[in-house]
Amino acid sequence: MKKEAENRIRLDKLLADLGLGTRSQIKEMARKGRIQVNGVPEKRADAKVDPETDQVAVDGALVAVARFQYYMLNKPQGVVSATEDNVHDTVISLIRRKAGGPVRKDLFPVGRLDIDTEGLLLITNDGELAHNLLSPRHHVDKRYFAKVEGRLPADAPERFARGITLLDGTKTMAAELEILTEASDDGAETVLTIREGKFHQVKRMFEALGCRVVFLKRLSMGSLVLDESLEAGEYRPLSEEEVEELKRWRQ
Ligand code: URA
Repeated sequence: MKKEAENRIRLDKLLADLGLGTRSQIKEMARKGRIQVNGVPEKRADAKVDPETDQVAVDGALVAVARFQYYMLNKPQGVVSATEDNVHDTVISLIRRKAGGPVRKDLFPVGRLDIDTEGLLLITNDGELAHNLLSPRHHVDKRYFAKVEGRLPADAPERFARGITLLDGTKTMAAELEILTEASDDGAETVLTIREGKFHQVKRMFEALGCRVVFLKRLSMGSLVLDESLEAGEYRPLSEEEVEELKRWRQ
């Protein structure tokens, strides 16, 4: 059995052990929405939590602090992938605003999406995992849905597969292009998988073929797939399985 599974205990037991009430009082507190696990209200007093990795708060005050936190955000447009910004809302301020309780101060986004890009963004305070996912040596797959304007050349998938020479002369690694709609003068809907993280990479790859990206959304990063039930601007904690898979992930 995995170590994490052994550590999990019922929320009412954890809070009762911490002296916060009897099990029935805790059940009532949960029912009233007074308990948050990883910033999200938890109404089931029998929900299992890991005191080492989950952050539990009652009435907004932390009672058990996890060392590492992992959130999946469906980043909306108009928000920057940073911890602080003087002009725009950041992905971290968005999480703080929406959290039912306190969140750790050391959270940061793993990599960046442009201000007008939507989709999957991992938010954590686990520097080692972030480093592994972002390291150019690890070539972590990133899948994007991209809507482009302009006519895609007929051989676009082959050209992406060979790697694209960007307009500044830089060569990208091989990428996988799937065209979802018939390419026409009106543009096309595509899914592109890249294995690097160059600045504005997707937009610049299409630009090199004479097309302009008009909508971009990240669908996955390594083993982590955007939960389609999350509306733009919503987030949820990763499950233990998702965290473990990401830690094991190797191309
Ligand atoms: N490539 C881009 O051009 N923009 C993003 O936000 C992500 C990848």
